[in-house]
Amino acid sequence: MSEFPTLQDIVWAAREKLPRSVWDFVTFGTETETSLRRNRRSLDSLAFVPRVMRDVSEVQPDTCLLGINLRIPVMLAPVGSIALLDPAGAVAAARTAQSFGTVQIVSGFAAPDYATVARECPGPLIYALHPRAEQPFLNELVDGVVAAGYRAIAFVSEAAYYSRRERDLMSQVQTAGKRARSYGSYLAQQRSEGSDGKSPSKEGLLGTMATWEMLQRVKERSGLPVVLKGVTCAADARLAVEHGVDVIYVSNHGGRALDHARGTAQVLPEIVDAAGGKADVIIDGGFVRGTDVLKAVSLGAKAVCMGRMQSWALAAGGPDGLMRMLELLEEEIIIGMGLLGVNRLSELDPSYVEKVEPVVMPHPLSAFPVVMERIAAER
Ligand SMILES: Cc1cc2nc3c(=O)[nH]c(=O)nc-3n(C[C@H](O)[C@H](O)[C@H](O)COP(=O)(O)O)c2cc1C
Repeated sequence: MSEFPTLQDIVWAAREKLPRSVWDFVTFGTETETSLRRNRRSLDSLAFVPRVMRDVSEVQPDTCLLGINLRIPVMLAPVGSIALLDPAGAVAAARTAQSFGTVQIVSGFAAPDYATVARECPGPLIYALHPRAEQPFLNELVDGVVAAGYRAIAFVSEAAYYSRRERDLMSQVQTAGKRARSYGSYLAQQRSEGSDGKSPSKEGLLGTMATWEMLQRVKERSGLPVVLKGVTCAADARLAVEHGVDVIYVSNHGGRALDHARGTAQVLPEIVDAAGGKADVIIDGGFVRGTDVLKAVSLGAKAVCMGRMQSWALAAGGPDGLMRMLELLEEEIIIGMGLLGVNRLSELDPSYVEKVEPVVMPHPLSAFPVVMERIAAER
């Protein structure tokens, strides 16, 4: 799609196409947006230490996670309100991911529902389970996900409460959960609303009762590998390994859950160390560039997931826009590997990165200087 020669063109097209309330919902985060900015800051605080004089004529950026071959170490993070970005919603993203050679992690809040996505997209899929305590609900859901043919379940642990994203509260944007309808009292709504949207019940609280025991129940009942999304410290990474988690997914929900969290790239080394090779580690939070991906791989991540970049690309050009985004990332990754002096991702290790002072103010768009300049020029 030559309409988008660069990733910056994709992001700019999304900004032009989306209603401002939806753009803000996708792009920004919770309260002071400190976690959001720290994600970028932790990436911008790493510089490469390239090696030269090596034959880099055979660069191959593929990898493998949970037995699924990935053409590049990039997967699509779960996005609940994906139907706001493309009418085909999760089907558009999952199908594009499969035809490119990667995987979408299908959000439990996405439309259409997980069974429809699986029917429409016969390749490998991972289901992002937003846990709830009641056993019948969980059992039924897990059985459905297994029957639909999903390859793994990603247990979402970092969003026990829906956080206060003040831009959404101010704009009253209607998201998948239509949460912005109860401004100023969403906590009260969460506490009082049952799964039917009416009866008062603890079920209304998203995953507030999730425990390691619940995760084990999901793993045992499903017989599927389990990805634990939301790990951000070594202690939890060690517990994850003890509880048989197959993939540790480092995430602070892209700065959309707890504010004032650490940047995910900052915590990655301690998680990789704690996992001790007993579980693969993947990560998200601020990743939008091929070089971002290579930094995480250097620090021991198997793959990186993208939420905002996926959302902007879908909004910019639908499935074609998303495909173009993946192709551009592949190009950036191949060029980056060649310039770092490696032919395979497995050759990267922490010696390829070093801590430095960032050169830009961290911002969800700071990897896109032209977009930042255009936005500034509007003022
Ligand atoms: C619009 C949007 C909706 C999201 N919905 C979900 C969701 O339903 N479930 C979930 O686990 N994470 C959700 N996330 C978080 C992403 O899965 C991911 O953790 C985060 O976006 C990563 O940061 P990045 O956007 O900087 O790549 C959402 C993110 C965005 C941008």
